[in-house]
Amino acid sequence: MAKEPVRVLVTGAAGQIGYALVPMIARGIMLGPDQPVILHMLDIPPAAEALNGVRMELIDAAFPLLKGVVATTDVVEACTGVNIAVMVGGFPRKEGMERKDVMSKNVSIYKSQASALENYAAANCKVLVVANPANTNALILKEFAPSIPEKNITCLTRLDHNRALGQISERLNVQVSDVKNVIIWGNHSSSQYPDVNHATVKTPAGEKPVRELVKDDAWLNGGFITTVQQRGAAIIKARKLSSALSAASSACDHIRDWVLGTPEGTWVSMGVYSDGSYNVPAGLIYSFPVTCSGGEWKIVQGLPIDELSRKKMDLTAEELSEEKALAYSCLS
Ligand SMILES: NC(=O)c1ccc[n+]([C@@H]2O[C@H](COP(=O)([O-])OP(=O)(O)OC[C@H]3O[C@@H](n4cnc5c(N)ncnc54)[C@H](O)[C@@H]3O)[C@@H](O)[C@H]2O)c1
Repeated sequence: MAKEPVRVLVTGAAGQIGYALVPMIARGIMLGPDQPVILHMLDIPPAAEALNGVRMELIDAAFPLLKGVVATTDVVEACTGVNIAVMVGGFPRKEGMERKDVMSKNVSIYKSQASALENYAAANCKVLVVANPANTNALILKEFAPSIPEKNITCLTRLDHNRALGQISERLNVQVSDVKNVIIWGNHSSSQYPDVNHATVKTPAGEKPVRELVKDDAWLNGGFITTVQQRGAAIIKARKLSSALSAASSACDHIRDWVLGTPEGTWVSMGVYSDGSYNVPAGLIYSFPVTCSGGEWKIVQGLPIDELSRKKMDLTAEELSEEKALAYSCLS
């Protein structure tokens, strides 16, 4: 029997990530090739015409899995009945703007969208925040949607995770699908810590640690980390626009693994509400290694943490605590 359609909200759908993301969802890349979807697309009034253009293109693409499109500037209409919410819309930092001003704009957006999700989304709606500052926007959303379980509110660090896999695959000249179990710890910002201490590569002689194969700790502890941390800036420099197709693809990876499960023996990175694991302060949305099964994520426990990693994990936690304080100061 055909499955019931899943309603997927994409906010900021007229923007560049939205434009790359909605066809991926409609093609089954996010939820699988047998899962019909109804797309809910939200943007703001100045983008209404562009949003309507995206709606027209979705119809013209005649996606067999796409069972309906809601394109609206009304947040309540957008959020009603959604099972999955991908929050891409936000206020970007413009030249000359103070951090506090950008934070304040995003706090007010995420506060009101949290209430709409709280009141109108389907029970057990899963939320992925993509818009920056992604971790802190997700935290605000969590605060203002108290009836949505905190485990259902996450932010995107899968793009950073995939970037780390990509760097290792290039360096070793191996297939990216043979590299696994890198970790992104912390914030989706340049303070994040991409960690390869537990990562492995599938070789004809079995799984081997990345460190053993790369044989260059100076690079793994230096250039590799900064390349992943700064990759977003490198894309902007090259494209004059921020990453969009890779962000959209990673958002699909994040939701797909969350809903359908991670492969046995593999973990992924997700920004989730910290419970104090690995001595990360509780109450931050922090990126951890997680496995997923039955629609639930679980932080991978018990990984040994060396001194260098500890320092880097604490540094990014400190930045998140500062962001949290700044966000709260915008509320008062
Ligand atoms: N977490 C990640 O890995 C990651 C990666 C890349 C980009 N990003 C972030 O994703 C966001 C979107 O990037 P983009 O390149 O698509 O930007 P964009 O400017 O092309 O699109 C953003 C869209 O959001 C809309 N918008 C603004 N306020 C809104 C609101 N209140 N409600 C609904 N829509 C609203 C805008 O009108 C625009 O159409 C940015 O914040 C960017 O920094 C995150």
